[in-house]
Amino acid sequence: MQIILCDSEEQVGRRAADLIEARVRQGPAVLGLATGGSPAATYAELIRRHREEGLGFGAVTAFTLDEYAGLPAHHPQSYHSTIRREFTDHVDLPPRRLHTPHGDAEDLAAEAVRYDASIEQAGGIDVQLLGLGANGHIGFNEPTSSLRSRTRVKTLSGATRAANSRFFEGDGEEVPKLCLTQGLGTICESRQAVLVALGEAKASAVQAMVEGPVSAFCPGSVLQLHPRAAVVLDPAAAGRLTLLEYYREAQALQDDLQ
Ligand code: GLP
Repeated sequence: MQIILCDSEEQVGRRAADLIEARVRQGPAVLGLATGGSPAATYAELIRRHREEGLGFGAVTAFTLDEYAGLPAHHPQSYHSTIRREFTDHVDLPPRRLHTPHGDAEDLAAEAVRYDASIEQAGGIDVQLLGLGANGHIGFNEPTSSLRSRTRVKTLSGATRAANSRFFEGDGEEVPKLCLTQGLGTICESRQAVLVALGEAKASAVQAMVEGPVSAFCPGSVLQLHPRAAVVLDPAAAGRLTLLEYYREAQALQDDLQ
């Protein structure tokens, strides 16, 4: 795991955008996209680079991590609408190459299998952007998710529904109870993973993910098994790490090499 310590949310956005841009500039790329507050600065930075520096997404295919069950794509709080509003509608990514699980599919289990297969058919994900839940979830893989799970239907925890109620006018009851999410095994097949975390509320989960044991109880810890994972943190999210000095030193040496 590469730990990248940043001074601010904006810097987190720039460092994560650097990793994504490096791959996009190499030619046709498959990106995995996260929703939520954490990647907002990353998307804002990518949009800026698109507008001001000619970073093109015309050869990019994108897959979101997850989707609420029961919400049609056009629902304002579906992750399909969210990712369009926050990122893809502002760059030249062809809409036909934006893929999200169909939350309103009649057979959700079959839809999950189809979605997992469609990632494989696209050649797999080159760079997977991730956020981290305060309970350690990635995608919607809640604690106790199988470390080798595939895209499937999951039940959202009360904590996640409460956290996401802010997107549903504060009404937790409006947050769907089920979702479709890429599995931990699916996420680990990405060729590169970039996880962004911000704020004190994530500090315990970050510490467990980076320095704790690999455990289904902290799903993000599965990234310890990923061959190329970067964790990009603001000071508050990094606040409980015990080896901060070592990460700083390693980062300075890495930066010198580049
Ligand atoms: C959400 C999403 C995740 C996201 C996480 C953290 O429920 N399903 O993909 O990373 O929870 O959200 P936020 O970045 O808003 O804190």
